[in-house]
Amino acid sequence: MNPLIELRNVSVRFDDQDVLKNVALAIQPGESFGLMGPSGQGKTLLLKLIAGLVEPTSGEVLIEGRTWKERSDGDKLVLLKKMGMLFQKNALFDSLTCLENISFALRENTKNTEQEITEIGEHYLNAVGISHARNLYPDEISGGMQKRLGIARALALDPKIVLYDDPTAGLDPITSKKIIELIADLKTKNKSTIVVISNDMNRIYQIADQIGMVYHTNLILTGSVEETKKFNHPAVQQFIKGDINGPLTANRSQDL
Ligand SMILES: Nc1ncnc2c1ncn2[C@@H]1O[C@H](COP(=O)(O)OP(=O)(O)OP(=O)(O)O)[C@@H](O)[C@H]1O
Ligand SMILES: [Mg+2]
Repeated sequence: MNPLIELRNVSVRFDDQDVLKNVALAIQPGESFGLMGPSGQGKTLLLKLIAGLVEPTSGEVLIEGRTWKERSDGDKLVLLKKMGMLFQKNALFDSLTCLENISFALRENTKNTEQEITEIGEHYLNAVGISHARNLYPDEISGGMQKRLGIARALALDPKIVLYDDPTAGLDPITSKKIIELIADLKTKNKSTIVVISNDMNRIYQIADQIGMVYHTNLILTGSVEETKKFNHPAVQQFIKGDINGPLTANRSQDL
């Protein structure tokens, strides 16, 4: 099977500094890829590369076998509509209600009637369990509900690929578990392929078929959950166990 998402020898430099170097990754259709790694090492950047929001300095990012670069503007738009993204800070529209936050993208990107748009919006609010917040504004709902709304909005166009940047950040353990269950359910229902960034190992183990860790400009592919737990690399072991001592903290001031 051809990968749905592929990175070939991808490097990104900002201000003469390598953030990612020679990164390779292949994600198969229907797969769930979990991405972890210390702060500031390129997780969000990797998601943005996949979404075509950042161009690699060198190398290629291919979706459905074609690079973002070789696509026309129209083609890029078609592909973007197949992708949903939950941004790390949700990026909700503060001046729109929960329902309007979802309707907005549907109005821009589909030919549905207003009534259909409302129905789809209500369907997704219901799917993420926040129907009651339909007419509230983002700052009138809790952090967990904002995440749910971000997820509903990411899913409203029925995307084939969904990219979740830290979907459980700042949430309590029970809400976190429920959000990941929700993401897994919706993935199965929509037959989508997902990338989930999280540094909560329990959540990564709960959702990922394949796991990777960004570390010192590399993407270390650590395999399945079981393979990751046994992965023979000191930085990976330190990270997944949360040990205070190890290579990740050896040159702490340099790393951060
Ligand atoms: N557009 C940009 N211009 C300059 N530097 C950038 C840009 N985008 C990302 N970076 C840098 O790339 C590095 C990786 O950033 P990124 O946001 O991917 O980190 P992260 O792994 O998601 O961290 P966190 O866990 O804190 O969210 C950081 O040093 C950041 O400052
Ligand atoms: Mg980030």
